[in-house]
Amino acid sequence: MAKYVGVLTAGGDSPGLNAALRGLGKSAIGLYGMQVIGFREGFRGLMQNRTVMLDEAALSGILTKGGTILGTSRDKPNAMAVGGKVLDMTNMIVETYRRHHLDVLICLGGGGTQKNAYHLAKQGLNVITLPKTIDNDVAMTDTTFGFDTALGIATEAIDRLHSTAHSHHRIIVCEVMGHRAGWLALGAGVAGGADVILIPEIPYDVKKVAEAITRRSRGDKRFSIVAVAEGALSRQEAAERRKADEERKAEKERKAEKGGKKEKRKKDGKPPKRSAESDSERPTGHALTLAEQLEELTGLESRVTILGHLQRGGTPSAADRFLATRLGTACAQLIQEGHYGVMVAARGDGTEPVPLEEVVGKRKTVPEDHPWLESARAVGTNLGD
Ligand code: F6P
Repeated sequence: MAKYVGVLTAGGDSPGLNAALRGLGKSAIGLYGMQVIGFREGFRGLMQNRTVMLDEAALSGILTKGGTILGTSRDKPNAMAVGGKVLDMTNMIVETYRRHHLDVLICLGGGGTQKNAYHLAKQGLNVITLPKTIDNDVAMTDTTFGFDTALGIATEAIDRLHSTAHSHHRIIVCEVMGHRAGWLALGAGVAGGADVILIPEIPYDVKKVAEAITRRSRGDKRFSIVAVAEGALSRQEAAERRKADEERKAEKERKAEKGGKKEKRKKDGKPPKRSAESDSERPTGHALTLAEQLEELTGLESRVTILGHLQRGGTPSAADRFLATRLGTACAQLIQEGHYGVMVAARGDGTEPVPLEEVVGKRKTVPEDHPWLESARAVGTNLGD
């Protein structure tokens, strides 16, 4: 019997989402005769039963399009803002799933989406996820689609900043996305030849950064490019963050012990607190303070470029289209085999289903002995430590 497949895109959008929808949909329909239905704007559209039929026509001509034809949102099934309150909408989502007689729900998203999908799996829904995010920080997969495109955009930006920084003998601080993982800043910094790279995994000492810039300027390099991840922290900020995280964890454990409290807060309708895992937990713009500090410490004029959502927009790279297609078609095969409760991970040239419980609650950050860091140090890049 033909299978009924529901699909949604959730979390921040990412180049390659449409390529993945196309890969999944075309192979599900063409190879296996399945019916594919899309839900608009992530888990919110699933809760509200807002659908779009993903037939051959809908899936045609979208391979090269940025964004997602389904729309997306950061809504969570168990804590959704509805009518000014934050409510657990899991039951309504399960109802939509049953109403459409779905055999499986496919969720395309980053770390938060893996967690939300797992939550639904625990309610008895068949789910499969695909890993997307420009941050490349989803655990248990070699890489995520969106990352390669963003890497290209950020690298080109750093390339372009070189000539203007050189002409004016300035420091240019370029802020790259990534709150808790520095893959994008590190990759673009190495590929673009940044002189300083600051990432969340390596708390920095601003004096050491200033010293490195001053050393360059005493030679014949009177300009410097600093690639900084939006979540990079000074040593002092990192210590404060650790303390806050520990307090939050202890508070969570206390609440869990008391039981039922959290649910009560949601029903009271108070806005949800940003969790430690939220992608947007600190506004961008940290680079502004850093640039001011560097100007003061070095005496060199400084400027700031914040790349922001430019890194998420536009046409996906060839590598991202290829990866997304590979993961999407592998997903269709897993549906055919009835292999549910997994994320389709990228593994070497192929793919691998990884049980969701091995993915959720983890984040892939840059390990301190990663070869990209070694390469950066080897060419004399300052990493703020
Ligand atoms: O998670 C992907 C990401 O692009 C992060 O790099 C960035 O910090 C965040 O999303 C921005 O989120 P928003 O779309 O809510 O502005």
